[in-house]
Amino acid sequence: MTSPETFFGGAPEALASAPGRVNLLGEHTDYNDGFMLPVATPQRTSVALARSHDDNHHFYSGTLDGNVTFAAKGGSAPQGFGSYIEGCIRLVEATGVEVPPLRVFVTTNLPVGSGLSSSAALEVATLRALRQLLNFELDDVKLAQIAQRAEIDYAHVNCGIMDQMASSLCDERSMLFIDARTLEHRLVQMPPDTELIVIDSGMPRTLAASKYNERRAECEEASRKLGVQALRDVTDPALVEQLPDVLRRRARHVVLEDLRVLEAAEGVSAERFGELMNASHDSLRDDYEVSIPELDQLVDALRATPGVLGARLTGAGFGGATVALCRAGQASQAAQAALSTYNKNGRQGRILIPVSSQGKENNEPV
Ligand code: GLA
Repeated sequence: MTSPETFFGGAPEALASAPGRVNLLGEHTDYNDGFMLPVATPQRTSVALARSHDDNHHFYSGTLDGNVTFAAKGGSAPQGFGSYIEGCIRLVEATGVEVPPLRVFVTTNLPVGSGLSSSAALEVATLRALRQLLNFELDDVKLAQIAQRAEIDYAHVNCGIMDQMASSLCDERSMLFIDARTLEHRLVQMPPDTELIVIDSGMPRTLAASKYNERRAECEEASRKLGVQALRDVTDPALVEQLPDVLRRRARHVVLEDLRVLEAAEGVSAERFGELMNASHDSLRDDYEVSIPELDQLVDALRATPGVLGARLTGAGFGGATVALCRAGQASQAAQAALSTYNKNGRQGRILIPVSSQGKENNEPV
């Protein structure tokens, strides 16, 4: 494994990091111009940069694909972690900034493929490091927009804006209320005396990409039939009942999920917040149909655990992680209890938050 000192032949010229995100409420609402409430993960991705002494870009990541080298002018990175970094570089160049050939060293303790937006963290950390090295003007919202473009155009994932906004603007202590249409955002206090539990179901998100695009298309069709620009514009939930089945259930999820976020963002009790999370999961399972049996089992195990106030899948679904709201001081114990119930049937779940002391020790450059 290459060390940063060996890779750079000394110290890097710029170093930045960015977190992943856990969405607490507002799932599949961003591409419907709606609302959401993510928080940052304690796990982060770091990007170190220096000018290269040849005409090539050189990217290195021990945890991801290893080495990537290509011509800074005219070359391109193969698909993999390099395409996210290349996307950020090319999009910064497109704003008129001259980017020299670079050496880029990536380290992360964010799990990849668990649905905590490790790709958004890589994009945001790369853009922060580029901004630091080249000293150009770029505010944090614009940065999130460029990061999202990098994901769509270079990694070919047709995502909304939530993950990049969260990675660019969230902290670990507060939720970030985001309006996906206007990109207005504000920090909102976490429900009082609570902690989060995030558990990876161990199920790969195999169907996620194709089903995600299918859901987006269904929402667009529902908007067309209702004569609105986006489902965010439907403020009376009764209106969706006129739609044919499937579209009706998809639209109902989005419209009610927006209302849940708006209620939670006003500040509700921890108990009420937990109920809203439960309602969100049930809606994602029954109306939006993006859950899988393993996520439902994990959510049920969490809900049955003392101290847990509410639990749901987080992110796009079809595998990945769950998030639960728990009374303060009880998260480690509750997470262990729910995990051992879930893992009884040979499942490979693992706790991502709270980060164990062992996990903290593992937080080494890789
Ligand atoms: C993925 C996408 C986000 C969002 C969520 C679902 O994480 O990247 O833009 O649509 O799914 O809420």
